Amino acid sequence: MRVVDIIQKKRDGGELSGEEIAFLIQGYSRGEIPDYQVSAWAMAVYFQGMNARETGDLTLEMAKSGDQVDLSPIAGIKVDKHSTGGVGDKTTVVLAPLVAAAGVPVAKMSGRGLGHTGGTIDKLESISGFSVEMDRERFFAQVGEIGAAVIGQSGNITPADKKLYALRDVTGTVQSIPLIASSVMSKKIAAGADAIVLDVKTGSGAFMKTLDDSIKLAQAMVDIGSHLGRNTVAVISDMDQPLGYGIGNALEIKEGIDTLKGQGPKDLEEVCLILGSHMLVLGGKARDEAEARSILKTHIEDGTALEKLKQMVGAQGGDVSQIESPDTLPTAERLIEVKAEAAGYVEGIQAEEIGIAAMLLGAGRETKESVIDLAVGIHLSKKVGDAVAAGETLAVLHVNHASEGKVQEARNKVLEAYRISAQPVAPLPLVYAIVT
Ligand code: URA
Repeated sequence: MRVVDIIQKKRDGGELSGEEIAFLIQGYSRGEIPDYQVSAWAMAVYFQGMNARETGDLTLEMAKSGDQVDLSPIAGIKVDKHSTGGVGDKTTVVLAPLVAAAGVPVAKMSGRGLGHTGGTIDKLESISGFSVEMDRERFFAQVGEIGAAVIGQSGNITPADKKLYALRDVTGTVQSIPLIASSVMSKKIAAGADAIVLDVKTGSGAFMKTLDDSIKLAQAMVDIGSHLGRNTVAVISDMDQPLGYGIGNALEIKEGIDTLKGQGPKDLEEVCLILGSHMLVLGGKARDEAEARSILKTHIEDGTALEKLKQMVGAQGGDVSQIESPDTLPTAERLIEVKAEAAGYVEGIQAEEIGIAAMLLGAGRETKESVIDLAVGIHLSKKVGDAVAAGETLAVLHVNHASEGKVQEARNKVLEAYRISAQPVAPLPLVYAIVT
């Protein structure tokens, strides 16, 4: 088999066999196939696409390229939840304890933030002492005992995807639906999920800017799931504004705690109830979404979901008193209000710009090596549909050590992110479609 033939076949719109895909991915992983040939192949896929069978084979090949976690020692159906990445997306902080309280085991590996999106692992590290590293035995034992553990990605999971993703990043081939779908799903399969709930974000702050593309991506991932025997449901949710009001690590943990108490932002609560309901149905703990929603609401109302978060934090070495008194979580020294220049109604909030502004303040990483400040970020005061008067506060910057230049840049980005209309604006839908 020759790599050049595989590239030409895809360039000309052909369908690659499982053997050809395996040859390419295995050869690339071993360092035997050079970057330039894989770049050419990725560009051919970008233009010609892949069918469901090819995408499934690519996913499996990447999942097999490194460690594969076997979650079978943990009883029950292990349902993973994955977000394609958004701004202010703290759903895992809410869902891990909430769903675990309802009896679905959560054995979750999460990532750190990069660029304009945050990462669950960074958020959890706002809780003093919280450890995101543990060996497999302890991970399994914790999930067995209390039902939930969230750790950083350990071991050598999907090295082929890591290498290919880095190459796509510099060759203009990230925005390909089969390549994104296989990249996401290979990590879920390798992490041992029995069933998967995908939160596919759509809008200005998402990978997929249009609903049409978001549905295509969701369908490609759901198809991979069924091809590989994992029940998969995708929820297409809004990212035309950040989720909730807090953007930044400790700010997001505080909002997650409020939500588990039933006092969080309504959009965050609703998205969590929808995602969580699908997790409960796939996990065999509810017959349908209506039953699942009522179970989840009960766990919020009776305090068992918050109690589960405390148990999880305690088990991972975190300071449980900070969950009881969220004011003791890291807090920024200065609050700077960003005020509206004109009156009107908020029509849109460019989530990506808000994410970048939070990053400039130190909440996120510009590069993998950047050190982040867990206390800083942005608290939105107005969301889409809200009326605003000239001079009224749109958002508050939570600032510690950022230079005046960076603060100014962040302030300008927040102002630019807000689109104000003279006419009243209806609130945005939270969920556009469910793909099964
Ligand atoms: N997230 C991933 O994990 N992979 C992609 O290709 C894009 C987003």
